[in-house]
Amino acid sequence: MKGTFYVVGVGPGDPELITLKAIRILKKCKIWLTPAAQKDGRSTALTIVSESIDPSGKEILHHFFPMKKIHMGKEPDAEVKDAWKKAAAAINARLEAGMDVALPTLGDPAIYCTGFYVYETLLKLNPKASITIIPGISAIGATAAAAGTPLCLGDDKVVVIPAIFESDKLKEMLTQFDSVVFMKVHKSMDRLVPLLEELDLLDKAVLVERTSMEDQQVHHDLKAIMKKELHYFSTLVVRKSCSISR
Ligand SMILES: C[S@@+](CC[C@H](N)C(=O)[O-])C[C@H]1O[C@@H](n2cnc3c(N)ncnc32)[C@H](O)[C@@H]1O
Repeated sequence: MKGTFYVVGVGPGDPELITLKAIRILKKCKIWLTPAAQKDGRSTALTIVSESIDPSGKEILHHFFPMKKIHMGKEPDAEVKDAWKKAAAAINARLEAGMDVALPTLGDPAIYCTGFYVYETLLKLNPKASITIIPGISAIGATAAAAGTPLCLGDDKVVVIPAIFESDKLKEMLTQFDSVVFMKVHKSMDRLVPLLEELDLLDKAVLVERTSMEDQQVHHDLKAIMKKELHYFSTLVVRKSCSISR
């Protein structure tokens, strides 16, 4: 019998925000392919999981995925594609040998997740591969919780924006939608703060750094952090219909 590849969402950082199902699947899989954004860096997903499951005894395939911009519909950078192919080949070899492989991933796999690129690449290599996605708690919900705000109620419309890509459409999005979630926002505050000020939305915005992690920081005064070096794990929520500053 062939093995199954699991892409497992492990939540935004707090080890209590990992699901029972994620824990069960990760315990069951003897092989974990752990994604890291630095060649010699530790995988955040592995750090989260290690709080609940002892990784010794697991075969850990530490895999480096370079952090480069990916534009949907365009050919990805060769180095990025190569990383997906190498991961897919390593996974496929083990599936063919009857072993299950889990790829633990930060937050939820459906939201900006390398696991899905590996999923697609694996299917190209082996269209019959058995693949299962285990959802997780996204930084989106966790950030709203830390900020003490809903994202949408009633007929509210929400949009999620990867801030590093967008520049010309930001004003339009902030005008059109009731709530806007900015991810990958840590280097964009000098563009966003003046725009929020122009639209009189500064008091409706909150940025949470390292949501649900031990050193979580909730920033209501965005002008104060405009020039600050923020962590990559930063998410900004703008909700127009209520003030979220307490
Ligand atoms: C590649 S995306 C991964 C999103 C993840 N799949 C999810 O569902 O949360 C990385 C972005 O997610 C957000 N993020 C992930 N973890 C976070 C955390 N603990 N606190 C705040 N933002 C976080 C940040 O905006 C970061 O730039």
